Amino acid sequence: MVNHRARGGSSERQARELSAEIRALGRRSLAVRADISDRQAVRALVAEAGTTLGRLDFLVLNAARAPFKPYERLLDRDLRQLVDTNLLGNISCIREALPLLERSSGKVVFISSLGSRFATPSYPLGSMKAAMEAVVRDCAESLRDRGVAVNAVCGGIVQTDSFKILRQVWDGLDRLSPELLVSPDEIAEVVVFLCSPAAAGICGQTIVVDRGLSNRVLR
Ligand SMILES: NC(=O)c1ccc[n+]([C@@H]2O[C@H](COP(=O)([O-])OP(=O)(O)OC[C@H]3O[C@@H](n4cnc5c(N)ncnc54)[C@H](OP(=O)(O)O)[C@@H]3O)[C@@H](O)[C@H]2O)c1
Repeated sequence: MVNHRARGGSSERQARELSAEIRALGRRSLAVRADISDRQAVRALVAEAGTTLGRLDFLVLNAARAPFKPYERLLDRDLRQLVDTNLLGNISCIREALPLLERSSGKVVFISSLGSRFATPSYPLGSMKAAMEAVVRDCAESLRDRGVAVNAVCGGIVQTDSFKILRQVWDGLDRLSPELLVSPDEIAEVVVFLCSPAAAGICGQTIVVDRGLSNRVLR
């Protein structure tokens, strides 16, 4: 099940294309639209997974939406959107999906970013990522006895659609060595690993996939 938010945008197109690719492999797949900041929409999304696909093995929390400006310049509605999508929305997804995940000893993987651990004033999403990494630790413990594993992948600078916006707000990004740029596939590989039996010993962790960028910053 591939979720997107906006109607008619590039995310909808990409969700449909990915879903078609999965179906071409002989698997069932569904592209759906749900705004994760809307609790009812999340409930309907999970209900559809249950009725259409019959089960939910993995929940990948990838959605993110945030303004690129410092806290002192955020409007009230920016702040609400920041928290509603990136914190409460992700928590809603975990809570609503829990009954299905429990049935399949499922796994949750949250996608975080380096803003969770370094000061990034024009990127308030970073503090939401830090809060969610703490939620990952807590849920990993509280859901352990229910057979649901919770972990996260923290990406460095990933070459996705939002990369061009990052370049506008991050002075010096263009001077960064290309070898420090992470590909979406490199993130996906670690998500797949965390969803696999090979990751059975990993619980409540956030694995950094940044090609050594944070190591270099701290050197
Ligand atoms: N790019 C990077 O350098 C980088 C680095 C580290 C971590 N990450 C993380 O990786 C994830 C993907 O990032 P990205 O670069 O691919 O960002 P992106 O291009 O902005 O994509 C974000 C996706 O989230 C969806 N979304 C936003 N708000 C939503 C909501 N309320 N409900 C449901 N879906 C929603 C968007 O759908 P619509 O387009 O329909 O709004 C879009 O498909 C994010 O969690 C991001 O923080 C990115």
